[in-house]
Amino acid sequence: MTYPSPPQMPARPVAMPAVAVSGLVHTYGRGHAEVHALDIDALAVFPGEVLLVEGPSGSGKTTLISVLGTLLRPTRGGIEIGGRAVDFGDQRALDRIRRSEIGFVFQSFSLLAPLTATENVTAALNAAGTRGRAAHRRATELLDSLGVAHRAHARPRDLSGGEQQRVAIARALANEPRLVIADEPTANLDTDHSLELGHVLASLAGRGHAVVLATHDPRLEPFATRRIRLLDGRIAAE
Ligand SMILES: Nc1ncnc2c1ncn2[C@@H]1O[C@H](COP(=O)(O)OP(=O)(O)OP(=O)(O)O)[C@@H](O)[C@H]1O
Ligand SMILES: [Mg+2]
Repeated sequence: MTYPSPPQMPARPVAMPAVAVSGLVHTYGRGHAEVHALDIDALAVFPGEVLLVEGPSGSGKTTLISVLGTLLRPTRGGIEIGGRAVDFGDQRALDRIRRSEIGFVFQSFSLLAPLTATENVTAALNAAGTRGRAAHRRATELLDSLGVAHRAHARPRDLSGGEQQRVAIARALANEPRLVIADEPTANLDTDHSLELGHVLASLAGRGHAVVLATHDPRLEPFATRRIRLLDGRIAAE
């Protein structure tokens, strides 16, 4: 008599993806104005990865990044953050995910102009429930780790582009998000600051965050652990 062989134990625990999508389709507009922006069977990004999303203008990079960041509800397909399905109909759950599980780094930095560097970071902490001295301490640590502690009291307009970007990263990391997404984060940076940003993002991955980076910038390629190339909304090369 033969018995079914026991299930194979994995050699090491299989990591859960920070973000995973399947059957993803996104179409903008309707009728004649319809644009098929995205069509991706499956994509998962794991803790420790820096995934570079490349592709020509209009290939769907921002659309993909926006879906991964839960900022855009896809026309079809599901998205999981940390193993949990995102329910786009549940606004409170969405707000919580965006506040606590995802850090956003935008090309325009999108810092709040009337607030100092520290206050920009503490605002993100406050939104997720960390307040007072604990928030201040954490903000100071983050600014320090990004090399901008000496600019803690400056407002965005008094910071250089590179400094603003580092404050924006500090803010994105405030709540230890499992996923950090960045869309063209070096578009407004010179080469030195772009390389520095690459190092910062790589070190985030080293600390267990998953990083997804949409970019045209070849200077960031050396920092990637994996690259995909989009063409007309599809993954053309991996
Ligand atoms: N809000 C929108 N309404 C209609 N079409 C859109 C919208 N946003 C993007 N598109 C279209 O969807 C496609 C993918 O756009 P997307 O912004 O994702 O490209 P991208 O790769 O980020 O380009 P770029 O490198 O120029 O930033 C393009 O054809 C674009 O014109
Ligand atoms: Mg784009």
